[in-house]
Amino acid sequence: MIIIAIDGPAAAGKGTLARRLAGALKLPYLDTGLLYRATAKRVLEAGGDPADALAATGAAMSLRDSDTARTDLRDAATSRAASQVASIPAVRDALLAYQRAYGDANGAVLDGRDIGTVIFPHADVKLFVTASVEARAKRRQAEFAARGETTSLAKVIADVAARDEADRGRAAAPLIPAEDAILIDTTSMNADEAFAHALAIVTRKIQP
Ligand code: DC
Repeated sequence: MIIIAIDGPAAAGKGTLARRLAGALKLPYLDTGLLYRATAKRVLEAGGDPADALAATGAAMSLRDSDTARTDLRDAATSRAASQVASIPAVRDALLAYQRAYGDANGAVLDGRDIGTVIFPHADVKLFVTASVEARAKRRQAEFAARGETTSLAKVIADVAARDEADRGRAAAPLIPAEDAILIDTTSMNADEAFAHALAIVTRKIQP
């Protein structure tokens, strides 16, 4: 059973990388950010406050596959609310079993913030993917542009920096690299280069 943990800050290219690695290694892929986003969306749609621990934990505990399969989980309001629900320890506990069961079923590539530190501390390979705030904001801005939304780079930089701050500063499972994680800085790599680099690391680790 192979577990590959990919952590890092928002818009560092984790998702693209994780999906491509999973494809190459024929492993299932779980974007764990979707669990927090779907939890946040449920709270928002019920008219609740994403900072309300009871409401958010209730939403996390009753999450269904259809919630995470939604295609409207990436807007700015849901992103902010996801960051809020993710700082609630009981929400993280409620989502932990799901993530472990997913990986334990057939092995997996999982991307998130605490996969290598909390969810799978014994993962076969741990990658911590980063890039400069500017590089990440430019990629996020390009994603928005592709969806027909225009936003100033200054605003995207501020949003990305605020989310970094919230993810790093929270008491529950803060975003930090696991001690044994391998750092990949994608600031000056395109998606193909990041993938080739990561695949070489993973292959070396799992087929020594
Ligand atoms: O990766 P993302 O942007 O889709 O994540 C959405 C939010 O959920 C983000 O604020 C960080 C949080 N998150 C987390 O705390 N732990 C994870 N394993 C994945 C995401």
